Amino acid sequence: MNFVRIAQNIYFDPKFEGKYDLLRYNTGIFIRRDKIVTFLACRIDKTEHGVKHQLVQMPLEDLCEGEVVIRVHYSGVNYKDALGATGRGQILKQFPLNGGIDLAGVVETSVDARFQPGDEVLVNGCGLGESHDGGLAEMARVPADWVIPVPHGLTMKECMVLGTAGFTAGLAIHRMQENNQSIDKGPIVVTGASGGVGSIAVDMLSQLGYEVVALSGRREFDEYLSELGASKVCSPESLELGKRPLEKGLFGGVIDNVGGELLAQLIAHTNLWGNVASIGLASGHRLDTTVFPFILRGVSVLGVSSTNCPMPLRRAIWNKMGDSLKPKHLDKILTETVALKDVSSVFDALLDRQKHGRIVIDCR
Ligand SMILES: NC(=O)c1ccc[n+]([C@@H]2O[C@H](COP(=O)([O-])OP(=O)(O)OC[C@H]3O[C@@H](n4cnc5c(N)ncnc54)[C@H](OP(=O)(O)O)[C@@H]3O)[C@@H](O)[C@H]2O)c1
Repeated sequence: MNFVRIAQNIYFDPKFEGKYDLLRYNTGIFIRRDKIVTFLACRIDKTEHGVKHQLVQMPLEDLCEGEVVIRVHYSGVNYKDALGATGRGQILKQFPLNGGIDLAGVVETSVDARFQPGDEVLVNGCGLGESHDGGLAEMARVPADWVIPVPHGLTMKECMVLGTAGFTAGLAIHRMQENNQSIDKGPIVVTGASGGVGSIAVDMLSQLGYEVVALSGRREFDEYLSELGASKVCSPESLELGKRPLEKGLFGGVIDNVGGELLAQLIAHTNLWGNVASIGLASGHRLDTTVFPFILRGVSVLGVSSTNCPMPLRRAIWNKMGDSLKPKHLDKILTETVALKDVSSVFDALLDRQKHGRIVIDCR
């Protein structure tokens, strides 16, 4: 066999060169070279120099298996996407893989009767961009069970302004409300407030009537966060939080994106029966606390995991985000729209805290 490998599953038999111009799949099927459709993708691979991403042209046949082929219109860049693409965090479970934990687009083909060509859909989490080719590409192919119709009240682009960041903020608020986070318990603190999850959480909470204290390490976004609905915007340091196991109750609850010492301090300052939603680790993954806030104040720490949220709840949260949880200021929260070919420019800047709000990737 003298086949020349063109792509993962596609081989060209040189004896046909100039004659039939045929390509041979390793399945034995021949197709004409000019019928091979390739598309642009941000592909991440493990090299001898570490994990790297690259923009490549690839054929549909190389994508992970799935029943639904989607022409991606928009994706986004979350903290996790940036960690994965740069190798600054171990996010991907297999290589090579297209990055992107979110996508919104139009069904191209489906062998599952629930979806028809032309349907507007979205996918987030479920392993997309971690163990399955993701949304930072012009095309994606995914299991039908992961696909969610674009909710009423949202456009495909708005879905990606929200993306996993918005979904996670919505999920955190849902969990807090399920655990009786009433407005009278006091203000909700949002940490890492100028980021994607933080900005959307501030907007959603203020619309629901909660008083919001937005904590940001960057003073240049005070006005931005006030416009999103925060009643108070300040730095964590200016709150002069204590370090004792139990401190004066100041807050009704917390949505935390940064982890570490700040999270421990906020738990100690949470009022009776308040909820602390733990989302992120932008400043650290350790949590050094005591049991006192839990056993003496009934404080709950709620875990929020967007990746493996059960599908019925995932659909319900997306539908709510097109309705009662829809942020009022998506136009302000969307700070950049970047073409897929330029996505590389975003990753390091986001991790180095040089971005705010949400970045949408235009994959069309
Ligand atoms: N659990 C889940 O399912 C889930 C889902 C989505 C995201 N996350 C996590 O949630 C966090 C936020 O994600 P995102 O997409 O919103 O990221 P993002 O847009 O980059 O926002 C992160 C924010 O955290 C603050 N921050 C960054 N570096 C920091 C540092 N070294 N120390 C203290 N604060 C720092 C910054 O806010 P200020 O400058 O305003 O302080 C930054 O804007 C990340 O840790 C991410 O991994 C978890």
